Amino acid sequence: MSSLEISNLRKSYGSVEVLKDINLSAESGEFVALVGPSGCGKSTLLSIIAGLESITSGEVRIEDKLVNDEAPKDRDIAMVFQSYALYPTMTVRENMTFGMECRNVPKAEQAEAIDRVAELLQIEHLLDRKPGQLSGGQRQRVAMGRALVRDPKLFLFDEPLSNLDAKLRIEMRTEIKKLHKNVGKTMVYVTHDQIEAMTLATRIAVMHKGVLQQYDTPNAIYETPANLFVAGFMGSPNMNFLSGRVVSTGGKASVRLDGTGITLPLDGVRCGVPADGQEVILGVRPEHFSPAHEQRAERKGRVSISVPVTIDMEEPTGAETILMTHIGGQEAVIVCEPDEAPRPGETMEFAIDMAKASLFDPRSEARL
Ligand SMILES: Nc1ncnc2c1ncn2[C@@H]1O[C@H](COP(=O)(O)OP(=O)(O)OP(=O)(O)O)[C@@H](O)[C@H]1O
Ligand SMILES: [Mg+2]
Repeated sequence: MSSLEISNLRKSYGSVEVLKDINLSAESGEFVALVGPSGCGKSTLLSIIAGLESITSGEVRIEDKLVNDEAPKDRDIAMVFQSYALYPTMTVRENMTFGMECRNVPKAEQAEAIDRVAELLQIEHLLDRKPGQLSGGQRQRVAMGRALVRDPKLFLFDEPLSNLDAKLRIEMRTEIKKLHKNVGKTMVYVTHDQIEAMTLATRIAVMHKGVLQQYDTPNAIYETPANLFVAGFMGSPNMNFLSGRVVSTGGKASVRLDGTGITLPLDGVRCGVPADGQEVILGVRPEHFSPAHEQRAERKGRVSISVPVTIDMEEPTGAETILMTHIGGQEAVIVCEPDEAPRPGETMEFAIDMAKASLFDPRSEARL
């Protein structure tokens, strides 16, 4: 049974279409991360699932039931909003029980739910405080708690960690992962943070300008991005886009990189057969360059090609060093181990792991 199914969904505000033919489904127990730049329609999509926004056309099904015309309270969904508004005059306990009071949940059941969730979120010691007496991170956890005391069909989270500092964010990320494992419920989770999406999700939906660009497992999104937008959006530092042209000789295709004099055979690259002379963009992630010690490349059984790289600048981050470089006339960012990093000004051979590279059509921006 699919837990959530969105078909041919469109949403317009006046003449502006903000969601364009969205198709997306989630199996029971899935964790769907919804990512994309600001304004791409993530919150709108979540509000539509919750029934807080109307649909222009299309269908939303929850556990196989069409809910287009069902009121939010009848959809059995728990939602944590982007701005987690807690009732300021109520204690944490009252904030969390309020919804259950409204639904006439028996007192004993309420107390049991509070105990369970407070322990999970480690807020037992805060239950009698008011929101004003809590830190931002604690408030965020209470907002989560308010949703988690319920046992709904679907959880919707709209950037629930956005107001936390980096350290707490990472801690809460682990908590949410545990939480999803424990409660096993279907969750749709909006985030700006692609690391959060990669680590939490069973599947990631990447949106851009109201269009769902790709919906797949974190690994597939990272390894085989459907287009230039997804390739550039997921991964940090960004994927390098090297422009070139296909040269076919004797049935073998290569890419001649513009302004470099370098030709890279496309043998190992996961792509179709590009036409001779076709303009292409070769996408190479920063970690798929490695200093070209041939033995090493061979040992790993990789199809790797060495190219001369000139280092412009280095940014040591501790665990790894980020190199700003150029290959002929084209810029590239490379990540390597600190003790392998050449000095700025040096030119050194780097091997490109072609089996991990992607090829795109610069016109359609689609993966080839
Ligand atoms: N009530 C509204 N009337 C008109 N336009 C709206 C309304 N609500 C949202 N929009 C527009 O719809 C688009 C999508 O907004 P939405 O809030 O879904 O984006 P988002 O992806 O959640 O962005 P963010 O990451 O900044 O939260 C935006 O261009 C926004 O300006
Ligand atoms: Mg939003």
